[in-house]
Amino acid sequence: MYWTNKHVLVCTASHCAQKGANAVVGRLRLDIVRAGLDTEILVNNCGTIDLCDLGPNVVVYPDNIIYRGVTVKDLPEIIEHLKGGPVVERLLLSKHSAEEETRRHFYQAAASPSPTRPAADFIALAASHGLDDAWISEQQRRGFVARKPGTDPESETMTVTKKAIARYGL
Ligand code: FES
Repeated sequence: MYWTNKHVLVCTASHCAQKGANAVVGRLRLDIVRAGLDTEILVNNCGTIDLCDLGPNVVVYPDNIIYRGVTVKDLPEIIEHLKGGPVVERLLLSKHSAEEETRRHFYQAAASPSPTRPAADFIALAASHGLDDAWISEQQRRGFVARKPGTDPESETMTVTKKAIARYGL
């Protein structure tokens, strides 16, 4: 961290950017300057933090906080937090947030008894947890899922990777 009190990272990689992250980081920088806080609070944009479906995502250090689904309208509350006020609970993503619990339950089921299973089974299991094909594709791009083509569609497999196993403590 730069020698400021807080360092704020706003993900502006493609998925967060599609949902307004560039407006969020631009406005946040401006509001921090207007509030005279720019010597205490450093705001940067950053690449993906592997929570693409939940973005725009904002990370605050040293608080070790992730805010998800942030819009420009949320910034006054976030700035109050940065000034020493309360954490914005409704935006907070933690290990125990519903989204993370859903992922953990899905990956627990998908990794048992083996991390590899037929792709059709993997997709059906994901659907039973409310997770669609777009979500699977994103997880694949982020390295949480590996897809291995077969000689025919029935022999295609999908694997819960070591990255997912480590992230979700499986
Ligand atoms: S694009 Fe922002 S977390 Fe991936």
